[in-house]
Amino acid sequence: MVARIIVTFTTILMILNSIKLVQAESRVPCFFIFGDSLLDNGNNNNLNTTARAHYPPYGVDFPGGPTGRFTNGRNMADILAHVLGFGNFIPPFASASGRDILQGVNYASGSAGIRNESGKTISRIVNLLGNKDATNAHLNKCLYSVGIGSNDYINNYLMPEKYQSSRLYTPSQYATLLTQQYAQQLKTLYGDGARKVVLFGLPQIGCIPQMLQTQKTRTCVDSTNEAVQLFNDKLKSLVNELNNNFTDAKFTIVNIYSMSSLFSGLSFLNFPCCNVSKTVAEGQCVPNTAPCPIRAAHAFFDNFHPTETGTMVAILRAYYSLLPSDTYPMDINHLLLSGLLGG
Ligand SMILES: *[C@@H]1O[C@H](CO)[C@@H](O)[C@H](O)[C@H]1NC(C)=O
Ligand SMILES: *[C@@H]1O[C@H](CO)[C@@H](O)[C@H](O)[C@H]1NC(C)=O
Ligand SMILES: *[C@@H]1O[C@H](CO)[C@@H](O)[C@H](O)[C@H]1NC(C)=O
Ligand SMILES: *[C@@H]1O[C@H](CO)[C@@H](O)[C@H](O)[C@H]1NC(C)=O
Repeated sequence: MVARIIVTFTTILMILNSIKLVQAESRVPCFFIFGDSLLDNGNNNNLNTTARAHYPPYGVDFPGGPTGRFTNGRNMADILAHVLGFGNFIPPFASASGRDILQGVNYASGSAGIRNESGKTISRIVNLLGNKDATNAHLNKCLYSVGIGSNDYINNYLMPEKYQSSRLYTPSQYATLLTQQYAQQLKTLYGDGARKVVLFGLPQIGCIPQMLQTQKTRTCVDSTNEAVQLFNDKLKSLVNELNNNFTDAKFTIVNIYSMSSLFSGLSFLNFPCCNVSKTVAEGQCVPNTAPCPIRAAHAFFDNFHPTETGTMVAILRAYYSLLPSDTYPMDINHLLLSGLLGG
């Protein structure tokens, strides 16, 4: 079983690396990234927060070592940029400068959430670029990806000792509240010029190593997965509404939840690859400890974040759907092919 999974991963890796070779230039001129630690590439490094990953063993497989990415190698934003044909990584907002930003900026920030109290770090989903008039035509051509919402569960709804939200709202009410706030943020993004937007749905949070450890169980926590599914369902409705209301834009969802169901039955894959902290920065790798030797055999690097290999599988399926359920209503390839630029 493990061998077959590794062979599959290796094949996907080879396909991913070959895609770039047949592309003369990137498929979009610019790529902007918003979200949390699944996409953060260094924005938190100099912030006063425990949500930082700028130390080993993070980055063990990244050229040059740790950068603030919450995984062993490249994260979702990096791999998507690669598949899009960018020859470089999209720079983090924290250090982007000069003309770099014309190609895009990564605003993602570990522990950011849809709800403003979900993380110590306030989400960087704020105004994109001030001067709309001059940049609108350019911004219309970019791809925008947004991956947010996990922390509204992990660091909020599922933490009744710290936050009131699970006492104030039923899972359904909470999912509604989150999608309403998300809708506002996406409309702001549209107002700033975004016309092609890919949203990452939430994974099976009931199956992440942190959940299994804190709940002292070897099987997924169904109630958590059900709560997350309510959010994903409402996100789908939101995308339908946005696509109906804004006919000059297209929004699509990557169904990370259904993709991750591959792993949920294989509990041996749900052990993290690094030694995770049980105290400060709980669930993140303990600084300067050795990671597991075969990263590709693990779905998770720490208690929350996938390994690079797991991420590659997800991004390839986001780009070219393998199953109809992988994306909704279309994969990234079709999102980019859809002819809505210039009206
Ligand atoms: C960092 O945050 C902690 C906790 O919020 C606070 O006690 C500490 O003073 C802060 N440090 C700096 C340098 O701001
Ligand atoms: C969070 O949002 C609420 C409602 O929009 C607002 O009243 C509150 O001031 C915000 N808090 C922070 C810390 O931004
Ligand atoms: C879409 O338009 C309908 C009808 O005007 C409106 O009720 C709804 O709130 C809009 N939805 C979004 C997400 O903008
Ligand atoms: C984790 O820590 C344990 C004991 O502290 C050690 O035996 C093990 O080798 C460590 N694993 C990794 C991956 O560093």
